[in-house]
Amino acid sequence: MQKTLKSHGTWIGKWTFVLAATGSAVGLGNIWGFPYKAGTEGGGAFVLIYLLCIVLIGLPIMLSEILIGRRSGNSPINSMKKSAIDSDVSSAWQGVGWIGISAGILILSFYSVIAGICLKYIFVSASSNDLDTAGQFLSIVNSPKELMLWHTIFMGLTMFIVSAGVKKGIGRMVKILMPMLGLLLIFMVVYGIINGAFKEALSFLFKPDFTKITSDTFLVAMGQAFFSLSLGMGSIMAYGAYMSKDQNIASTSVSVGALDTLVAIMAGLAVFPIIFAIQGLEASRGPGLVFISLQTAFNTMDFGNIIGPIFFILLSVAALSSSISILEPGVAYLAEERYFSRTKSAIIISITCWLIGIGTAFGFDQDGNNFFQANVELISVNIMQPLGGMLIAIFIGWFMKESLIKNELGSINQAIYQIWRVFIKFVAPIGVGIVLISQLF
Ligand code: TRP
Repeated sequence: MQKTLKSHGTWIGKWTFVLAATGSAVGLGNIWGFPYKAGTEGGGAFVLIYLLCIVLIGLPIMLSEILIGRRSGNSPINSMKKSAIDSDVSSAWQGVGWIGISAGILILSFYSVIAGICLKYIFVSASSNDLDTAGQFLSIVNSPKELMLWHTIFMGLTMFIVSAGVKKGIGRMVKILMPMLGLLLIFMVVYGIINGAFKEALSFLFKPDFTKITSDTFLVAMGQAFFSLSLGMGSIMAYGAYMSKDQNIASTSVSVGALDTLVAIMAGLAVFPIIFAIQGLEASRGPGLVFISLQTAFNTMDFGNIIGPIFFILLSVAALSSSISILEPGVAYLAEERYFSRTKSAIIISITCWLIGIGTAFGFDQDGNNFFQANVELISVNIMQPLGGMLIAIFIGWFMKESLIKNELGSINQAIYQIWRVFIKFVAPIGVGIVLISQLF
């Protein structure tokens, strides 16, 4: 006899799931991952391939995660286990949940350090006019004490929200954070249109250059789509567990995917007009895009000490609404099994992430490279996350009873259902499998 698992409750209000899932999806990946890759990997041609990855592989997996989560109403480990048992297949499928939760702990460990740097930059860009922004960035990342302070604050905020629960913590926070993020982003884009080099930004992001498209482009686009939609790790499955039964899973997945893509594109339209407005300033890759290129622009332009902090608040909000979704699956598991209270569970997992994060905080070298962080990211984001996504697709496509799936989907358009079946059975596992294999070799 299985003991009854503790319930986590459901979201209050129809839109809370969409807000929370969009909050999970929209994060650092959208703001410095997508724009830069779009600009350098072929502009409009890359955006097109990215959209295909979202629609053909991302959305079918997102739908699957929400479905499995909502059907059981539990953490990813127990949701996978229940669906497997009810389908008369091995309960070892719960391993997918374990992979996800472990990946989440690893991802959050460095996500929190980087988000901490975003918090720090709210103050840096408000007060500093240091034109050597590269030197300034290096001196910050080479100061472990500083990084540890902000890492601790960010991890503490994440823990605090998650410990307050689904309704009073995450649900309530996303209703504040997401409108705030939307407004800040619109403000930044409008600012770019009025004061920035908007035309250059448009052509950098969208001018299709098909000569840059190689087999690598597909891998980059696929990895970016996966990370950006928060797939394969249980964030979306955990949030789906709190979704009410009368909501439509298919259309909700489309809303979340569309909002995530919209924010990624808007982030590009917020960042590049400001950078290109400064003569000779080039966009750099990864964290350098915002902490060096953009900060140089803030230092050079009028009102940079006001626009800069607004931008870094935007970035921090985006990071926080993502980090809570990375922490939730593990906390939900410990709490529903009644091993600990929700608060204690949140403290335990947060401390674990915090401890692993110390490696990242102390790991930067003189050039800003971070060997420790790069390897944690490689294992979690490049290997475990696609592995989880591929297994979810294989499970729902080949092992889960179709009657259970149809039951959960309710009245769905038959054509859409059939298309989804083909994509989840063949396209998604093969597509993600190729990405995974290419990471391993
Ligand atoms: N999607 C978020 C971003 O773009 C990060 C994120 C949240 C994530 N939950 C996740 C990434 C789960 C991988 C797996 O920044």
